[in-house]
Amino acid sequence: MIAELPKEEILRQREFAAMVRELLAVRTQGASAFVQTFGCQGNEADSERLRGMLELCGFARAETMETADLILFNTCAVREHAQDRVFGNVGAVKSLKERNRKIHIGVCGCMAQQKHVAEKFRQNYPFVDLVFGTHALHRLPELLYQLYTAQKRVFALDETAAIAEDIPLRRSSDFRAWLPIMYGCNNFCSYCVVPLVRGSERSRSPARVLAEAKELVAAGYKEITLLGQNVNSYRAADAAGETVDFPKLLRAIDDIEGDFWLRFMTSHPKDCSEDLLQVMARGKHIAMHLHLPAQSGDDGILKRMNRVYTSGEYLRVANRAKELMPALSVTSDIIVGFPGESYDNFKNTLRLAEQVRYTSLFTFIYSPREGTRAAALPDPVPHAEKVKWLQELTALQERVSAEQCDAMRNRTLRVLCEDDGKKMRWSGRTQGNQIVEFDGAAQIGHFCVVKITNVIKSRFYGEMI
Ligand code: 5AD
Ligand code: SF4
Repeated sequence: MIAELPKEEILRQREFAAMVRELLAVRTQGASAFVQTFGCQGNEADSERLRGMLELCGFARAETMETADLILFNTCAVREHAQDRVFGNVGAVKSLKERNRKIHIGVCGCMAQQKHVAEKFRQNYPFVDLVFGTHALHRLPELLYQLYTAQKRVFALDETAAIAEDIPLRRSSDFRAWLPIMYGCNNFCSYCVVPLVRGSERSRSPARVLAEAKELVAAGYKEITLLGQNVNSYRAADAAGETVDFPKLLRAIDDIEGDFWLRFMTSHPKDCSEDLLQVMARGKHIAMHLHLPAQSGDDGILKRMNRVYTSGEYLRVANRAKELMPALSVTSDIIVGFPGESYDNFKNTLRLAEQVRYTSLFTFIYSPREGTRAAALPDPVPHAEKVKWLQELTALQERVSAEQCDAMRNRTLRVLCEDDGKKMRWSGRTQGNQIVEFDGAAQIGHFCVVKITNVIKSRFYGEMI
């Protein structure tokens, strides 16, 4: 297990924050910052920490990028497309900087952790002032201090990944919370850049996680999502030195008194144990949703992806989960067009999706990532062909989703209302994370019971009862 950063380091950052606050007070009459997030919930959670640190440094929250004195892009490297979007968005703020030299632009997160990408920002984006990777996130106050005092560009590509606790945090919602329980990943799936940019697995202390969950429930949060690249491999020692694994942690959080839903993601099928399914099935608060990425339904491809399970093993886990929890919504990620994948291989993925009957699927065309093992493999299938396969899978899933949704007509479901009804109707999510649009006297951030009166494709419409 990798240790937490020493307290002194966190205190040192607080001192830097105070110094930045003083600098800002002298230089300007109040500065504001804007954080733009790309990518997964892990990045959303990191951005909440970035905003907390910015607040401590004396920044107000800018409503728009155009009005901000500091713009930070918290980036995603998981696919080329995500990365291109970041380059496009960063490129677009060049003109803001040209109009107003006083603003500062920073890029951080997964893209910035990669040396070759940081180098690209150094060479081709001279208007970017600050670049720091995931491992340096907690050092934002210090980096801002350097930026403002040295008046030159700052690059921080720390190599060591530790757990930074007690970082100030500004949550983006007052009813839905991200709760990271572990960071990094040891799985090295052959296509995936995450272990390279987020480092090896490290689990937070169970006492800290539990205390944070209790605080959230006491503060009225209605949905808590435990986050990690592979939450199932959470493992840490408690105060008595006993090992706490993920099922045990989940059970402890589920035992908290209150009215809330407990979610978690992402689960690796290899570690999705009977013990975990039992805890889920018996839970009082655990949402009936399991995000269980299959990535492929073909054993040869799974092997080359280094997923370490077969499609049969995957199916057994998914079936067992549904057997224990008939109302469970199972969702998945699928990569189409892995190097060397043939249409026959792909047909096995179609078959798996048909057999599991997912509630919904996140589908991606394989994207080669520098530094991963798969990037070196021959990849003869043309992109246009992969797009066709993807469409075939999407069509299958749309049919399966629509069939499942249709069976929910006239049922009543508990929904967490999340939208203010500006589109004439309210909208919210079910335990299975499906969106429901409905009429009635709802309130944002509160649970309500909705009768499903209509289903169009895989969207629910209903009335509050
Ligand atoms: N290409 C395409 N999809 C990828 N994912 C991860 N790496 C890649 C890649 N190189 C997908 C996986 C993962 C999800 C978050 O992103 O399906 O589960
Ligand atoms: Fe990437 Fe695999 Fe780790 Fe998920 S489990 S983050 S896909 S390496």
